[in-house]
Amino acid sequence: NLYAVIMAGGVGSRFWPRSKERKPKQLLRIFGENTMIQDTVNRLDGLVKNENIYVITNKIQKMRVVEQLPQIPQENIIDEPFGKNTAACIGLASILIKQRDPEAVTLILPSDHLIKDDDAFRKCLSTGADFAYKNKGLVTIGIKPTRPETGYGYIQFDEKEVSPDIYKVLTFAEKPNLSTAKRFIESGDFLWNAGIFVWRVDTILEEIKTYLPDLYEGLLEIEKAIGSNDFAKQLTYVYGQLKSISIDYGVMEKSKNVYLTKAEFYWNDVGSWEAVYEISEKDEDGNVLIGDIFSEYSYNSYVFSPKKFTALIGAENLIVINTKDALLVCSRDKAQNVRDVVDYLKMNK
Ligand code: GDD
Ligand code: MG
Repeated sequence: NLYAVIMAGGVGSRFWPRSKERKPKQLLRIFGENTMIQDTVNRLDGLVKNENIYVITNKIQKMRVVEQLPQIPQENIIDEPFGKNTAACIGLASILIKQRDPEAVTLILPSDHLIKDDDAFRKCLSTGADFAYKNKGLVTIGIKPTRPETGYGYIQFDEKEVSPDIYKVLTFAEKPNLSTAKRFIESGDFLWNAGIFVWRVDTILEEIKTYLPDLYEGLLEIEKAIGSNDFAKQLTYVYGQLKSISIDYGVMEKSKNVYLTKAEFYWNDVGSWEAVYEISEKDEDGNVLIGDIFSEYSYNSYVFSPKKFTALIGAENLIVINTKDALLVCSRDKAQNVRDVVDYLKMNK
């Protein structure tokens, strides 16, 4: 009996001005007609029943999540009182699912990644799920790296299979600095961590107990309140005292019980407007033009302006995002700096 936990608490500051606190990346239609969180759920079709899918989000986003995912029972859409990063989010989901099945295998999924080849994705996760159920291991998904990205986790594994398509992990290193990331890439024995995990609820709770004992204590307190009228109050009280830490730093780097299966599907975590440009289909000038747009002598640019006629003349390598209340004009190679605007607005407006 397979369960899924969709983590949807991110704020997505690199997608300003389309994304705001209320509308982070996972709630946007960036590729095609569905939002990224809708694609995440649709991808589970045939693998996880809707009633076994949980979404962990926050108060600001909850209504939109409920609207976008009518097929998921509302009681499975949980809002955390504060964002305390992924260890708390996963811990909370695990104690809730444990009530229904103490040996449940859960797929832990980010809500804002682009994945292609859904069949290969499902096959990979079901391989992981079988192994996790029988062997009580923590299963990660490895992606072939293409650059020394410092925003990802890196995984080194033993080449000898421990079970078909499953490898023992030797090292898990979260967000290394650039020189370490370069060394990992050059060595050729590291894969990127996709940020997708597969494990039994009892296994991950044991690991949290070992490596994050304060979080574990807090989860026990929350567990006692499940089903009572005090649940929300207790959740807020416990969360108020929790440390913010990701599952990667908190558990994956430390545990000796980590395994890996290789992704045989296309994966992209779509970290910036530049990534959106790269993934999108371009016209003959290398442009991606969304909306009513006039373009002349302009190349290799991404323009999004669904509500306002926009003209582009002699522009190259630009990202132009024109929304109702803001306009972004950004050089494609500076797309990471969009988050500075969000910081600026927080301080000054
Ligand atoms: N509910 C909830 N609460 N969700 C959260 C919270 C939280 O406090 N914090 C983050 N999330 C969600 C985000 O919305 C996202 O879908 C997912 O959890 C992962 O969090 P990120 O903040 O995006 O993590 P990351 O990108 O820095 O790193 C992770 O992903 C990389 C691949 O994209 C790590 O697992 C890396 O090792 C990995 O390489
Ligand atoms: Mg991410």
